[in-house]
Amino acid sequence: MAIWPACSGRVLLPPVNRATHYRSHSCGELRAAQAGLEVTLAGWVRRVRKMGVLVFVDLADREGLTQVVFDETVHRELWEAAQELGREFVVQIEGQVRLREAPNPSLPTGEVEVLARSLRIFNASEVPPFKIEDATDGGEELLMRYRYLDLRRPTNQKRLMLRHAVATAVRHYLNAQGFLEIETPFLIKSTPEGARDFVVPSRLHPGHFYALPQSPQTFKQLLMVSGLDRYYQIVRCFRDEDLRADRQPEFTQIDCEMSFVNREDILQMFEGLVRHVFREIKGQDPGPLERITYEQAMRLYGSDKPDLRFGMAIVELKTKDGPDAFAEAGFQVADKAEYIGALCVGGGASFTRRQLDELTDFVKRPQIGASGLMWCRWNPDGSTASSVDKFYDDHRRRQWLERAGGRPGDILLILAGPEAKTRKQLGELRLELARRLNLCAPDTFRCLWVTDFPLLEWDEESARWVAMHHPFTAPLPEDLSLLEKHPGQVRANAYDMVINGTEVGGGSIRIHEAGLQQTLFRLLGFSDAEAWNRFGFLMQAFRFGAPPHGGIAFGFDRLVALLAGTESIRDVIAFPKNNAGRDVMIDAPDRIEEAQWKELHIRPNFPEHHEIP
Ligand code: AMO
Repeated sequence: MAIWPACSGRVLLPPVNRATHYRSHSCGELRAAQAGLEVTLAGWVRRVRKMGVLVFVDLADREGLTQVVFDETVHRELWEAAQELGREFVVQIEGQVRLREAPNPSLPTGEVEVLARSLRIFNASEVPPFKIEDATDGGEELLMRYRYLDLRRPTNQKRLMLRHAVATAVRHYLNAQGFLEIETPFLIKSTPEGARDFVVPSRLHPGHFYALPQSPQTFKQLLMVSGLDRYYQIVRCFRDEDLRADRQPEFTQIDCEMSFVNREDILQMFEGLVRHVFREIKGQDPGPLERITYEQAMRLYGSDKPDLRFGMAIVELKTKDGPDAFAEAGFQVADKAEYIGALCVGGGASFTRRQLDELTDFVKRPQIGASGLMWCRWNPDGSTASSVDKFYDDHRRRQWLERAGGRPGDILLILAGPEAKTRKQLGELRLELARRLNLCAPDTFRCLWVTDFPLLEWDEESARWVAMHHPFTAPLPEDLSLLEKHPGQVRANAYDMVINGTEVGGGSIRIHEAGLQQTLFRLLGFSDAEAWNRFGFLMQAFRFGAPPHGGIAFGFDRLVALLAGTESIRDVIAFPKNNAGRDVMIDAPDRIEEAQWKELHIRPNFPEHHEIP
């Protein structure tokens, strides 16, 4: 029986009979009630302890660990053979279950041990390069090089079991709602999800390349044109982009599409999915999901994926056409600033000089880019103080503090600058404060929908509009009339699901008319010929009766990582790539033979001994 410890003891995988010709039980299932039973176990030797006439062996498999005892006074030859056992040998042991003299309450099998009467070694093992335990001594590089050994560690095994359990819960829900699981091809033409494509050269068609799907977006829309109505797929996607803890070049989506739906239908359906998964996996229902518009999210939290496990919303002290709690006071930074916003930190008046300096350094990092940090303190004795006392008196400081809903003992951390940029900086500072002050209790989840994203973003570099989601996203019906004249003001009929500050999923209602789709492509700077060349198949399909449709894709790895309580999606992927996009275990990517270049009709364009970092 596999139990994920973070799931309040919930059983995620049904208990099954593990008996085979090699074993009668798994290493995780013997209990006091089985004392006296003759059993056969098979597994890996995790630890050997020699204590005089006794040798204790911890025998482990996926299900757990059972203590086996070799007793010289009972069976001398066997006891001698056990002396030779090493870590990670694969063995079979027959013996009798008995109650332990000193039970180990931290182990499910801790009340019993097996007194061995036979030992069979299937395979010896070299000394493993690191301890196969949760508290391992292996560094990251070593663990990845020997990932198959890393995966023997109990936490990693449980993570993969959790992944399986989540996939099962997802399938149950979607199957029950009438979705069909349909596979779409991997060797396709470029799909526009905003990243670079991985491409595959064609041997049969010299000079032509397939692209691996960044998502099955166009195919799932074609399935709606085909009348398949409700589709899903737990599917691998490929994106050649810079890696981070929550990004892998190949990752898995729960990809879904529905016909004859509006946004509300989709939000209801997939809110249901997420609640079902949480109930199944965590035994808790996150309840109806909150909703917040993109505009509110940016204004209140400086992020389109706000973490709502804690408050600390941004307070506006000066905006272009709103309040100005700073009023010209001769302080250039504030006088010139387009926008000033603050975070009110409860109890923050006790921050030391050093803590404030650290926070200042944080916002001045190049990735954040603020020029400095102001603060204003409401001391517990009722007096106020700020880093800009030279310019602003007690009356003014009190105004800021009161506007922010502060109380004696609190501090305001204040940033000034251009509006959009400063909001994002405050958003980053808010997250940093939550980390430092431990504001997020473990195993708490706040799920929400973010809606009404802008349809387009202006890209300075290429001086053109780009789709914020992808070019198949429909505008909100009420904004359609703005499309030609004010494209920047058009909101998308799109939605993201955010859990604890992570974008777990995103989708939209799609354009289903060829004419509107063409307008969109034009706005995005595609010539009609280019658009036809890349997406002609979709626009063609729209001419043959495309139903209104919409969908969503969840980042499956991200969802599992959240449920597993780990920061990195690598932890929940069996064989992930490292930060440089490499698989150091199999050494990929790798060079290919001269003959293969030729066969694929391509020529390398780098020095012969070019070393890949
Ligand atoms: P989008 O690009 O938002 O939408 O992707 C959907 C979800 O996939 C996850 N995700 C990733 N996870 C790990 N590594 C990556 N490199 C990575 N990139 C994305 C995120 C994200 O929310 N076709 C649309 C969906 C739709 O419109 O239906 C799409 O792919 O959790």
